[in-house]
Amino acid sequence: MSQRYFATCGRGIEPLLANELLALNALDVTPGRGGVSFSGDRALMVRANLWLRTAVRVLWPILEAKVESPDELYQVVQTVDWTKYLTPDHTLAVDSNVRDSRITHSKYAALRVKDAICDQFVSRQGRRPSVDVVRPMVALNLHLYRNHAILSLDSSGESLHKRGYRPHLTVAPLNEALAAALVMRSGWTGDTPFFDPLCGGAVLPIEAAWLAMRRPAGLTRKHFGFMGWLDYRVAEWAEIRDEARRGVLNSPAAPVRGSDLRADVVAHAERNASAAGIGHAIKFERADVQRIRLDGPPGVVMCNPPYGERIGEEKELIPLYRSLGDLAKRSPGWKFWVFTGNPRLAQAVGLTPREEIPFYNGRIPCRLLRFGEER
Ligand SMILES: C[S@@+](CC[C@H](N)C(=O)[O-])C[C@H]1O[C@@H](n2cnc3c(N)ncnc32)[C@H](O)[C@@H]1O
Repeated sequence: MSQRYFATCGRGIEPLLANELLALNALDVTPGRGGVSFSGDRALMVRANLWLRTAVRVLWPILEAKVESPDELYQVVQTVDWTKYLTPDHTLAVDSNVRDSRITHSKYAALRVKDAICDQFVSRQGRRPSVDVVRPMVALNLHLYRNHAILSLDSSGESLHKRGYRPHLTVAPLNEALAAALVMRSGWTGDTPFFDPLCGGAVLPIEAAWLAMRRPAGLTRKHFGFMGWLDYRVAEWAEIRDEARRGVLNSPAAPVRGSDLRADVVAHAERNASAAGIGHAIKFERADVQRIRLDGPPGVVMCNPPYGERIGEEKELIPLYRSLGDLAKRSPGWKFWVFTGNPRLAQAVGLTPREEIPFYNGRIPCRLLRFGEER
């Protein structure tokens, strides 16, 4: 049976997420604000959770209503027959985000939703589900915007950017979903070399290698929200996952590489790549970007230099940005993508960007800048 779903994502990422959904054969793919709605059957929802690289979570909206007060919210939630979705033996949690509405307290709104569900169980069965905020069997998401409430089952549970490969944290790591979006936006598909000379924890090279190897973003994850649902069929999940696993290439068609100035950071990057199941597929080395020479067939350089948010830091970073420009100048044929939240430092690259694409890194407005060869 076809259902309507909504996959959420960071601002600016919607068109990339829409492309991913189209590639999964989702129907009625419609980009919106902070996400993309689409239609498909239950297997598509499972595949979306397994495959989507740029999504945060996949929601299944089950109730939409105009609500002006917490009491109205409570009443409308009680019109749903909750035995369709859970039993008193299930655990649940309600997450909420509220904007520009008469109801202003998101925590209180979530509490009223939870009360409405639990009270319905108590009045009908004398028992109620309990709350587990860490790993609920059924996670609900309330979105309340301009008094319009959408209550959804959260099929992902923990945010999909948590791939399960980053046990070793480094400084200022990129969110995995954003990193995947940057790689996809560059148009790189894996048939030319990919190199991050400021690789840090290696999020960009890992996401690039996964893309090139057709490895689903969720293959390393142990748990998705839908696994706690009443209608969860473990055999269906295993079949979808195993089919995807069989399609994964042994290695990328062209080299994927990362380097960093710090030896300890390179060691972290190597461990992260191993945790991501592709330790063999990425080559890392310790190198100062100022000394790097790119040889072999040209490809794509992509990096995320520090933005110099702390006082005094910006000035110190000028030489680093300049050395990226110098690397571009001495590497004909290569395409350079620099992702930064600091427009002044971007100027220090010393080249005019051929393209500037806006994204957000958390709350920081950033740009993905393209330098070097024409397309
Ligand atoms: C903002 S972090 C990159 C984070 C990375 N994208 C991630 O998601 O983990 C910038 C990295 O640049 C490295 N770096 C700074 N100066 C460098 C230089 N001259 N040569 C090479 N790497 C440098 C730092 O060690 C740091 O790991």
